[in-house]
Amino acid sequence: MTEQELTDKVVASFDSAKDDRFREVMQALVRHAHAFVRETRLTDDEWTAAIEFLTAAGHITTDTRQEFVLLSDVLGVSMLTVAVNEPGLDDSTESTVLGPFFVQDAPEIAHGGDIAGGASGEPSWVSGRVTDPGGNPVAGARVEVWEADDDGMYDVQYDRGELAGRAHLFTDAEGRYRFWGLTPTPYPIPDDGPVGRLLDHAGRSPMRAPHLHFMVTAPGFRRLITHIFVAGDPWVDNDSVFGVKESLIRPFDRHEAGTPTPDGRQLQTAWTSTTFDIVLRKE
Ligand code: BEZ
Ligand code: FE
Repeated sequence: MTEQELTDKVVASFDSAKDDRFREVMQALVRHAHAFVRETRLTDDEWTAAIEFLTAAGHITTDTRQEFVLLSDVLGVSMLTVAVNEPGLDDSTESTVLGPFFVQDAPEIAHGGDIAGGASGEPSWVSGRVTDPGGNPVAGARVEVWEADDDGMYDVQYDRGELAGRAHLFTDAEGRYRFWGLTPTPYPIPDDGPVGRLLDHAGRSPMRAPHLHFMVTAPGFRRLITHIFVAGDPWVDNDSVFGVKESLIRPFDRHEAGTPTPDGRQLQTAWTSTTFDIVLRKE
């Protein structure tokens, strides 16, 4: 049997699959996997190393540590799926990766509330408006936000069982939202497992450009999953998961300690402020 005959035979083995989409995806997967092996002339030792890598990824994966998501992220597959499924039409706000640290049921805060909940970092006033593509306000949109503290750690990485650096709020009648977050700082993706070793072997950094995550939902609109990134930060040009899009880079303006805050909050420290207007796509 020639190499091509083998590929054809495996592809044909899915011909009678009942589900059309399943058949299409599996046959494409077989064609591409076989093409990869042929193109690279993959050796037995290399294939064994690949299986060992995937086995190690499985062993380190738990409910709170998802090594396969990290692998998809550092190979750019997560961002490619975003590009295919969320092409950013109608001037709508662009999407980026979800990442592994989203948690359902983060606490609700009032307008102007603080998402820190004990997470350390420099306060940052974040405000904006949620609209449809015609500029009409989307009232009652649910705005979920989450971010790492200034040690580059998410609450769920501490095993303390306490939520911090995350919350949700709802837009007002004019589609507006505002809250106190933390000025994002750069942090490494979890790099103590096989994906970290892969990056190290490639001479690549595990650092993510500093960012604040958003998930925005409202009836009649497509769910938006995105981040905003800090303008001027050097990691913006070298994000380990390829998540940065130009339209999502926002200036975080610096204010010295003692500068009056937008809501009259008394702060002893310096703080930053940024705005992020969001355009949701109709369903
Ligand atoms: C994050 O933004 O939290 C993240 C995204 C991809 C991989 C690891 C972390
Ligand atoms: Fe993140």
